[in-house]
Amino acid sequence: MGGSYATMEGEPPLIRLTAGLAMAGMILGQQFQPQIPKVWDENEVHTFELPLAQEEYSPRHLSEKEYYALKVRPIYRTYPVYAPGREPAGYRDWLMQREPEILFDPAKLKTKADWIAAGKLVFEAEPLLSPAPAPGGRPFFPTPLPPDKDGILPAFVPGNVYIIRKKGVIEVGINSCAGCHTRVMPDGSLLPGAQGVVDFPPPPDAAKRVADAKPEALQSRREVLWVLYGTPWILSKEQYFASLSREVLMKVAVARRPGVIARQGTSLTHRPHIPSLIGIEGRKFLDSTGFARHRGIGDLARYAVTNQGLDTMARYGDWQPSAESTAFSGEKGTRYSDEQLYALGLYLYSLQPPTNPNVVDAKAKRGEKVFHAQGCASCHTPPMYTNNKLTLAPGFHPPDDMLKSGDVMNLTVGTDPTLAMSTRRGTGYYKVPSLRGVWYRNAFGHGGWADTLEEWFDPQRLNPDYLPKGYHLEPGPVKGHEFGLRLKADDKAALIAFLKTL
Ligand code: HEC
Ligand code: HEC
Repeated sequence: MGGSYATMEGEPPLIRLTAGLAMAGMILGQQFQPQIPKVWDENEVHTFELPLAQEEYSPRHLSEKEYYALKVRPIYRTYPVYAPGREPAGYRDWLMQREPEILFDPAKLKTKADWIAAGKLVFEAEPLLSPAPAPGGRPFFPTPLPPDKDGILPAFVPGNVYIIRKKGVIEVGINSCAGCHTRVMPDGSLLPGAQGVVDFPPPPDAAKRVADAKPEALQSRREVLWVLYGTPWILSKEQYFASLSREVLMKVAVARRPGVIARQGTSLTHRPHIPSLIGIEGRKFLDSTGFARHRGIGDLARYAVTNQGLDTMARYGDWQPSAESTAFSGEKGTRYSDEQLYALGLYLYSLQPPTNPNVVDAKAKRGEKVFHAQGCASCHTPPMYTNNKLTLAPGFHPPDDMLKSGDVMNLTVGTDPTLAMSTRRGTGYYKVPSLRGVWYRNAFGHGGWADTLEEWFDPQRLNPDYLPKGYHLEPGPVKGHEFGLRLKADDKAALIAFLKTL
């Protein structure tokens, strides 16, 4: 017997050995114990969203019973879609012979890495399906992005994978998280979780199509928009329709910018930029208006549920936008499973930023000094470069309990109040965003008005006849957040160089 056993006080070697193996197993992640939250727990659902600025219209969601009565949407295997003329011969016939295959199976998930990989499937799954377009026909979702060397179109773009739920029926889908939260990097590589680009520049005839549309077509478009964005406590249906004249709809059609999209519950004309989800675990509030709390993975799951269609079925006062609004984001009467949502959360928390090509040189170091000297750090506090607090939209008076909560700074940075005051996500607040990863984002300010940091810090943007390079319907000032605008040119360049290293 070797001397090392002498210290074991008579413990049989086998026990030591198995204990050691168990530990090794834990280190390798094999003992991973999933902690799956009950997503639609009524108490949690009641408290995870902040009240709206007009408190009595805050959404009331489906009950626990109604929610769990919805059917779980399985996640199926997908197949590539090819660019026109690149599809291998016989591909469609081969697809017609495929049996449906469910990929997400919690019984098979053992390690944390397994759960994260399964969460990626949930991130990529298209919840709303329709029949695939005929071969050689108009593409489902025209994209300026090129296919890969095999002719395969980028899978994250809506409609760019085939799904077989029933043998002999080929479908395509829309509205995956990946569709809006995948970035195309300058070298053409894809970065999942980063600010998406999917609202590609408008086609050249975008305005003409609206100009030529029949009045009935415009009217039925307004009906859809009412379901997506209507707020009867702000504008009656008649007033809302009147605000969407043909001219306004033409402007909206050409205003599209990558990185900005009118998610339901926001505003057709005052759209939010798409946030990067990389680094989400450290953020206390979700959305520009801080609409949802993020107390843990359960809240992230609840956010995913409401945003994938349940928010249009909520009641705002007595008003329900749609009785079966999941039709906009997921197949009618369906939901995610709690396991799928847990996996999705683990996946989002696992996302890492890419290697930053911007080095911390002398200029960036000087920029860091400017950052601190200008007081930026009081709101954009390192290491997250946010203090995780909410600021007030111009004109908003928060309730006392919120002021006392420690989450609210009693000041306004003066940006456009529409999103925070007049929408279904309108809490009255704008959160202090994290500045991590600004180097791989565009569309700054919650409305994405400034396309670059250079533009965000350009005082010209305050001019009454300014023409923004980011999202805009017409020329006009990009107001508010005047911090750093009046710095000397070299200090400003240094500040921007520093921000690009974060
Ligand atoms: C149609 C495009 C679209 C789809 C699909 C989409 N998102 Fe988003 N997402 C957005 C936009 C736009 C915002 C910003 C909304 C705002 O600020 O009001 C956002 C915000 C978020 C946020 C808040 C992040 C933050 O820092 O504030 C999270 C989390 C999120 N999305 C997760 C998801 C997940 C998970 C899915 C899939 C279940 C998903 N999104 C699907 C467009 C989309
Ligand atoms: C009083 C708090 C406060 C101070 C001080 C402050 N900011 Fe901000 N910052 C905000 C808020 C709030 C927003 C979001 C405003 C909006 O979108 O409506 C923001 C937005 C930004 C954005 C755009 C980020 C994005 O994702 O769109 C950048 C960049 C930024 N700030 C940098 C700075 C710098 C640099 C300074 C100092 C020169 C600074 N800020 C000072 C609160 C502050």
